[in-house]
Formats: sequence, structure tokens, C-alpha cells
Amino acid sequence: MTAALTVEDLNGWYDDAHVVQGVSFELAEGKVTALLGRNGAGKSTILKAVMGLLRRRSGKVALGSRRIDRLPPHRVALSGLGYIPETRGIFPSLTVAENLTVAARPAADGARESWTLARVFDLFPRLAERRQVGGGQLSGGEQQMLAIARALLGNGRLLLIDEPTEGLAPAVVADIETVLQDLKRSGITVLLVEQNYPVALRLADNVLVLGKGRLRWAGDEPAFRSAEDVRQTWLGV
Ligand SMILES: Nc1ncnc2c1ncn2[C@@H]1O[C@H](COP(=O)(O)OP(=O)(O)OP(=O)(O)O)[C@@H](O)[C@H]1O
Ligand SMILES: [Mg+2]
Repeated sequence: MTAALTVEDLNGWYDDAHVVQGVSFELAEGKVTALLGRNGAGKSTILKAVMGLLRRRSGKVALGSRRIDRLPPHRVALSGLGYIPETRGIFPSLTVAENLTVAARPAADGARESWTLARVFDLFPRLAERRQVGGGQLSGGEQQMLAIARALLGNGRLLLIDEPTEGLAPAVVADIETVLQDLKRSGITVLLVEQNYPVALRLADNVLVLGKGRLRWAGDEPAFRSAEDVRQTWLGV
């Protein structure tokens, strides 16, 4: 079976700093893959490189069998990659409903059941209640929910999510995890960067470990749990 996403020999730079170094991996269709690594390992930069957001990068990126590494970021997004950056990327001056409406895209032909405003409000009742509130007025957890909802309405085949629980209170972290579990059950393919390892491992089918810009380990979640040396060397846990 073709992987949902294939990344081959990906390199990324900020000016002269070679931050992502020869990284290769595949995302299995319908699975959650956690990308783990210490602060500064290059996790966010990998997501930016996949989205075409780095000024300088090299390597091959394919969505299914389609090369996307020469496309500009908006075309990468339209080709089916939903990206939720660490900064969440919502419009503070638009209402919740407006934030959602401007993000909506029809699903590609033959796609699974597509995401609509109604379906998103089912998944996030809190956003339905707050639909007329400005994006900038939302709590951190609500903003994260809005960011996820916006990405879903893009009706892509794949979601790249950068640290969805960062900076949130424990009760809100639990809410976000519940939503991500629902999404996992819906069969969407996810690449999840998450520093909260218990949350990441409850969600993940597969794990990638990044250290100092290079891929250090890849395997399934049970194998990761028994790879104590990998965890100690590259994650310090
Ligand atoms: N915009 C930038 N300009 C220059 N250097 C950057 C920029 N963003 C990140 N870096 C550097 O690139 C390296 C990788 O950063 P990156 O943000 O990808 O790490 P990360 O694994 O996502 O870390 P964190 O867990 O802190 O989010 C770090 O050394 C960081 O300081
Ligand atoms: Mg990061």
C-alpha cells in the first residue's frame, strides 16, 4: 500500500543553520504517528519543511503518489495537507464562525464523509456556543479547538499538528485529547508533534524520534515503549 505521506532525505535550513538533516519517514494511511524529540530537535521545522514554508530546503515529499515538494505552501494545503502550527494561526479579529467559514474547502472527489460546519460544531459544542465571539477573545483551549476545527474544514487527507496541548490546563489537555481520539477513530491520518508523552503515546500507532535534526528511531508504539535506551538517549525520559 502506498503511504499517505512519504518524506525522503528532507533537509531544512534557517540561513546557514542546517536544522533538519536527511530525514526520511512514511506516514501510514489512517494512523497517528507521533514525532517526538527534545526542545530544538527540529520537530516544528520538519512540519514547516513539509508544508513548503522554509526558504531553503531539499528532499522529496509525496502525498500518496503525488510529489508536492515543489509546490508553494498554499498549493500544498490545497493538495490535502492540513497544518496546525504551534501559533495556531487563527484570526483574532474574526468571529469563531467567520474563522471557520474562511477555512472551509470542499473535499476532493471520492473523499470520506466531508467536514461541514455542522459536523465541526458536533465535535466541538463549545465552539458552537461561542460562534459569535471574536477569535482573540477565546481561551487557550478554545483557540486550539478552533485551530483544529479550521484544519478539519480544509477537508484534507492528512493533518500535521504541532503541540496541541502546549500551555493548556490539565482539564483542557484532556478535552483536546478526547477530540484527537475521536479524530483518530474517524480514520484521518495524523502527524502529531507532542511534548506531553503520555498523551502522545495514548494516541500514537507509530512513533518517530528526532534528535539534533536527525531521525534516530522509528517503530510502532509498543516497540517504542520497550525501547528504553532510545527514550533515555533522545528524550531524557
Ligand atoms: N525562525 C527561525 N530562525 C532561526 N532558527 C530557528 C527558527 N526556528 C527555529 N530555529 C532553530 O532551529 C532549531 C530547531 O527548531 P524547531 O523549532 O524545529 O525545534 P522543535 O523540535 O520544534 O522544538 P520545541 O520543542 O522547542 O518546539 C532550533 O535550534 C531553533 O533554535
Ligand atoms: Mg516546536
